[in-house]
Amino acid sequence: MIKDKVVVITGASSGIGAETAKLLASQGAKVVLGARREEKLQALATEIIDAGGQAVYRVTDVVRPEDNENLVQLAKDAFGGIDVMFLNAGLMPVAPMSKLHVGEWDKMIDVNIKGVLNGIAAALPTFKAQKAGHFVATSSVAGLKPTPAVRFTAQPSGLCVT
Ligand SMILES: NC(=O)c1ccc[n+]([C@@H]2O[C@H](COP(=O)([O-])OP(=O)(O)OC[C@H]3O[C@@H](n4cnc5c(N)ncnc54)[C@H](OP(=O)(O)O)[C@@H]3O)[C@@H](O)[C@H]2O)c1
Repeated sequence: MIKDKVVVITGASSGIGAETAKLLASQGAKVVLGARREEKLQALATEIIDAGGQAVYRVTDVVRPEDNENLVQLAKDAFGGIDVMFLNAGLMPVAPMSKLHVGEWDKMIDVNIKGVLNGIAAALPTFKAQKAGHFVATSSVAGLKPTPAVRFTAQPSGLCVT
């Protein structure tokens, strides 16, 4: 049952995160939206509330552990707890490895890997205490299956160098 479940979503300001938030809220979930772009979060929360759903948001950079903790705290303050942590914030700049976009590699590790770990660290103590809770992470075929294209991706399902 999705109704009344409290779902925290990182990377909620666009794409998969925003669409998931709208879908879950339309089915009665209470969604807690996190990302860096406040105007996008505000517009999404307003859209969900105007449609009869429940949503709150907080500006969150998943690279910062305290931002993840604050997002989980918002879920508790606004809705009394947290049932699901959807670790969706991510980026995927694709380029041939030979281009040596080292800065992009660093960023991907920070957001796609450490960002997910920070989210787990923020919610796991609560899940353990309540003996329940779900983590869901967005991955990619690119994190599971090597392809002929030479590129570097970092997705929660694994670090993939192809
Ligand atoms: N779309 C696809 O076909 C596809 C396929 C496979 C995998 N994926 C993966 O799925 C994830 C979402 O993709 P998408 O297509 O929905 O992309 P998107 O529209 O670019 O959404 C990415 C989301 O992540 C957020 N984000 C990025 N860096 C962040 C940070 N440091 N802290 C907090 N939030 C951050 C962005 O919000 P702000 O910029 O506001 O922070 C945005 O809400 C990515 O990891 C992507 O690699 C996508």
